[in-house]
Amino acid sequence: MGGMVFIDLRDRYGVTQLVVDENTNKDIFALANDLGREFVIQAKGTVIERSSKNANIATGDIEINLTELNILNKAEVPPFTIQADTDGGEELRMQYRYLDLRREPLQNNLILRHRMAKLIRDYLDNKGFIEVETPYLIKSTPEGARDFVVPSRIHHGEFYALPQSPQVFKQLLMVGGFDKYFQIVKCFRDEDFRSDRQPEFTQIDCEMSFVEQEDILKTFEGMMKYVLLKIKGLDFPDPFPRMTYAQSMEEYGNDKPDIRFGMKIKNLSHIAKGKGFVVFDGSEYIGGICAEGCSEYTRKQTDELTNFVKKPQIGAKGLVYVKYEKDGSLKSSVDKFYSQEDLKKWADELKAKPGDLLLILSGDKEHTQNALSELRLEMGNQLGLRDKQIFAPLWVVDFPLLEWDEKSNRFFAKHHPFTSPKKEDIGLLDSNPKDIRANAYDFVINGTEIGGGSIRIYDSALQRKMFELLNFTEEEANSQFGFLMNAFKFGAPPHGGIAFGFDRLTSILNGTDSIRDVIAFPKNNAGRDIMIDSPSTISKDQLNELNILVAEKKK
Ligand code: AMO
Repeated sequence: MGGMVFIDLRDRYGVTQLVVDENTNKDIFALANDLGREFVIQAKGTVIERSSKNANIATGDIEINLTELNILNKAEVPPFTIQADTDGGEELRMQYRYLDLRREPLQNNLILRHRMAKLIRDYLDNKGFIEVETPYLIKSTPEGARDFVVPSRIHHGEFYALPQSPQVFKQLLMVGGFDKYFQIVKCFRDEDFRSDRQPEFTQIDCEMSFVEQEDILKTFEGMMKYVLLKIKGLDFPDPFPRMTYAQSMEEYGNDKPDIRFGMKIKNLSHIAKGKGFVVFDGSEYIGGICAEGCSEYTRKQTDELTNFVKKPQIGAKGLVYVKYEKDGSLKSSVDKFYSQEDLKKWADELKAKPGDLLLILSGDKEHTQNALSELRLEMGNQLGLRDKQIFAPLWVVDFPLLEWDEKSNRFFAKHHPFTSPKKEDIGLLDSNPKDIRANAYDFVINGTEIGGGSIRIYDSALQRKMFELLNFTEEEANSQFGFLMNAFKFGAPPHGGIAFGFDRLTSILNGTDSIRDVIAFPKNNAGRDIMIDSPSTISKDQLNELNILVAEKKK
């Protein structure tokens, strides 16, 4: 600018303006004119007050009048602008992640992540917890996902599995006498992608001996309150709300309710059947929600909602709506079958008032509840009820111990096979296993499952019984978990624990949309690291050494 060069110098601590005046320093001026974006420089000068101050940046009151300038390294023009509102698309930024990491939002995300890890370590250390590392090359642990496996070179045809979590090791640490364990630890799961899932992710993994469910909930409620206070300045003086799994499914349609807003699901089966509408009459379950103040939704908007619930991931067959007009009349998409009095009953059940819109789905119970849950969240978004600056934590308790799988005609553990049944439900083990509740709990914030845990089985006979229920033959149980059942024979203390998803927790406190934003080098949504190009093939020699023959790709 007319005989002056201004340079924005960026480092981890922000941007500082450097200035060179042609009149006072010709050499530096010439060099400064050659600088390009992202050059690495060394500069010396005098801090002076700026004549035109910039209140938007921390160093906006000053600039540095240069007396020395060195170029330490030149840079090619970066493929996207390195600033908060960059012009680079996500894939491009993933490919050049090291450049993306220079941007302030990502720097702040990782600094926050560091601060949270430190706070959590300090908190747990203060409470007497010890951080113990557990191995990564292990044997498969059943946590519901597929394992990533690592071939052994020395042991022909044998494989390690990467841990889906340190579950069995933390239990063995309890048998080993460490009564309060934690670890901020990488876990590996080969599962389908979502914005809150990564194939490798980090847990705050915890376990305690001589505890009951109440001790775990209190201890870790304390930790979460501490984090919310220190990071967000939010003081939650009262206990976090608790909701049973059954209530959560009934009112929110899922086991991770977003309780920032109401719009609870109501069962309408008893008042909506028997009027000749075959879709409802033939349904196991009819449920609805009330979207406040939406009676004026246009045909286009209700059609969009119908398309939304019909998406394959949601899978509803259609959507019935009732507009509770401001004049008190009710207009529905099923007027042929229902009188005003019939529709008024629905409105009353949903506590609707004139000006509201009722949205109703039907089908088999589980799927319909799920679809209603998605619809509720969508309406929450449309009505601005899911403010990222509001945090609504809660515990979901009393999960079922087992889950019936129609396809394979067998039970699976809802949490994992080491979770103990509630004492009062143990009698149902033989007669009615599906009704057994577990000593299992989840920690949820704003509709995201942040943590989950349970009180464990510590008796080898009960553990064996559990494996039986889960269709493990005695041989399978012994070969996979013999070591654990053996350990329980040597005086295992009662124990239980929990693990929090550290990426999810950081992301939610940070208000970011994806956990990728709080991970330095994440995988993309096809499970690839496109920066280092992984996964990739390995050389013939490596394969030979591992005794592995790769089959031709199936067409
Ligand atoms: P669970 O399987 O519920 O429990 O996992 C605990 C928490 O880890 C986070 N999480 C994930 N985060 C990112 N990407 C993933 N793929 C992913 N999978 C899970 C979630 C979840 O709540 N061993 C038990 C804990 C215990 O019983 O103590 C376990 O791993 O936030």
